[in-house]
Amino acid sequence: MFPVAGLGTRSLPATKTIPKEMLCVVDKPVIQYAVEEAKAAGIEEFVFVTSRGKSALEDHFDRQFELEESLRARGKDDALAAVRGAELPPGRYGFVRQAEPLGLGHAVWCAQAMIGDEPFAVLLPDEVFRGPVSVLKQMVDVYDRLGGNVLAVREVEPALTARYGILAVGGDDGRVAEVTGLVEKPKPKDAPSNLSIVGRYILQPEVFDHLGRHETGAGGEIQLTDAMARLIGGQPFHGTRFEGDRFDCGDKAEFVAANVAFALDRADLADGVRASVSAILGHRD
Ligand code: UTP
Repeated sequence: MFPVAGLGTRSLPATKTIPKEMLCVVDKPVIQYAVEEAKAAGIEEFVFVTSRGKSALEDHFDRQFELEESLRARGKDDALAAVRGAELPPGRYGFVRQAEPLGLGHAVWCAQAMIGDEPFAVLLPDEVFRGPVSVLKQMVDVYDRLGGNVLAVREVEPALTARYGILAVGGDDGRVAEVTGLVEKPKPKDAPSNLSIVGRYILQPEVFDHLGRHETGAGGEIQLTDAMARLIGGQPFHGTRFEGDRFDCGDKAEFVAANVAFALDRADLADGVRASVSAILGHRD
């Protein structure tokens, strides 16, 4: 499930008409990175929680026959492959609307009927990960071993806990930690640890029972963290540190950094980008 119904206020003015999830890192919208990460983890069905003004996102995953025909006629095979590579399997994806951005928990709840009574993954597409193995695949490996609910987590500066969902942990082998509590955006003095949730979750469907109460939490929003906290104790619940870099593309500085990092990974772009960035830095000195 991909919640994509937020307003993207931190990314204005770009997001006045362009969905935040359609902002591009190099030449791919961030939502496509998340979909590819999910596919690499073995996910075969895709649900998007959208809202008004997100039709570009829906079209991105659809066939574009005229464009394809033109590319074919001009012999632009690489461009055609790039266009076709963004498609999703017919009958295996769908969109549901969140009429009002009442919070991530509410967005997830909106997809209940489409998800049904089975475990599911939530990927927040504005968080883009870079590394050899899909972060969701790393989580699926932990899920196959331990079951229940699995969150991707990372250590943050203790002074910054009020920006994140924070874990209280029991047993911790340095990679996987047992979750004993979850708090959304605690002040540093109230934070049970400095392990923060990042935007990847594997959850059991019982979370919908708690989300269905529509209780608001931090910031007056319906928080996924609060509903997840209620599952702890009744089901296995683990946080797993992941290998790879994370970029919060809803943050302008990290979005720019993601573009540089992904461009430097590309054989066709690395030399040019390195030269341009070096020149800019040189002029600054
Ligand atoms: P964010 O808080 O990062 O997104 O939510 P936002 O609210 O769009 O961004 P800012 O802070 O105003 O810039 C993380 C993800 O959850 C979705 C967003 O679309 C984003 O992908 N979301 C958030 C919803 O789908 N519905 C909501 O009510 C809130």
